[in-house]
Amino acid sequence: MFETIQSRGVDQILALMKAFQADPRDKKVDLVVGVYKDANGAVPVMDAVKGAEALLLEQETTKTYVGMAGDAEFRSFVPPLLLGENATQIAEGRVTSLQTVGGSGALKVGCDLLNSIEPGKRLWVSTPTWANHVPVATDAGLNVAYYPYFRPSDRGLDFEAMIMHLQSNSAVGDAILLHACCHNPTGVDLSLEQWKKLSRFISDRRLLPFVDCAYQGLGDGMERDVAGLRVLAAKVPEMLIASSFSKNFGIYRERTGALTLIAQNADVLAKTQAAAETVIRSNYSMPPSHGARVVANVFGSFELRSLWAEELNDMRARIAEMRRVLRLKLEERQVTQDLSFLTDQCGMFSYTGFNPADVERLRAEFGIYTAGDGRINVAGLSADNLDAVADGFAAVMR
Ligand code: LMR
Repeated sequence: MFETIQSRGVDQILALMKAFQADPRDKKVDLVVGVYKDANGAVPVMDAVKGAEALLLEQETTKTYVGMAGDAEFRSFVPPLLLGENATQIAEGRVTSLQTVGGSGALKVGCDLLNSIEPGKRLWVSTPTWANHVPVATDAGLNVAYYPYFRPSDRGLDFEAMIMHLQSNSAVGDAILLHACCHNPTGVDLSLEQWKKLSRFISDRRLLPFVDCAYQGLGDGMERDVAGLRVLAAKVPEMLIASSFSKNFGIYRERTGALTLIAQNADVLAKTQAAAETVIRSNYSMPPSHGARVVANVFGSFELRSLWAEELNDMRARIAEMRRVLRLKLEERQVTQDLSFLTDQCGMFSYTGFNPADVERLRAEFGIYTAGDGRINVAGLSADNLDAVADGFAAVMR
């Protein structure tokens, strides 16, 4: 039977990650996968995480199951992070967070939940969106539709086209996937004004928002990165949020995320949570413990939390600095096209506008690996590789 399997292709981000590892050249640069690298090109373990793990080693008394919803203490920290300490939705008892297997696990549980409510429900996603959004949603049974988002001409957001398209084509009850911040793959976010307009539209059209919040803290800071999400949450009765601690804690392999459910009241929330737990049970039964305990230990300790906030600030500042320096170095190399997109776009990723031939040339001639769509991981830049990257990019851009 296995002989009849039709491959649907490997996720291009993961395929490129492998190709990079197999490339024998000494001088090669990996700007593919979205992991934070420090100035030495290492993917570091944060000191706050090390501190939390030391506590865990000392304090853990059991390895029994954590339950379908996950670690209670971890779960309690998530809604305030997303919605604010004084959020009315929290005070009204209509929010809960379930621990999931990374942000991807939250997306899958959320999509399965939507499909269990309405099989084949339509989910609107941005053009483009993260490479795994569509497979996750379609495997769950949802019907994916696309709204315009990125405008190649200025490498910015085509907000008018987005709203007009949704106005003409979306229907009451459709779900819409949005990126809270640091849009993946483009790095192009909505302004607060645009979030307000979009929230009004979503509320009037009675769409169900599903917000992917994978990069909180890596754009403009933990609070500012969710300012738009909070505007939206204030406007709608129901909402799903998939969030991740992979990036802002650097605990990628610990698969630590949360699905946050907001319902119109506590009774509906209880029903929704029960349905989500059914989905969790049939997917993977219960989440693992380690990453959630690390996050809970950091948030539960004043010292560790302060240390983590400092380390996260340094990461964010380094990313912003790499954007600035890359732009400068390209300008120094007489690239005449408008490079403001490099510093206007936000977070780990920048959509360069490189076409497939450019991407291939960068890889073959310069050993520079970008994602196939021209996305670069800005956090992969460092003093060691900036000149080589600028040389390659300038050659292609000129
Ligand atoms: C990325 O977009 O590079 C990350 O989210 C990693 C992944 O799993 O694709």
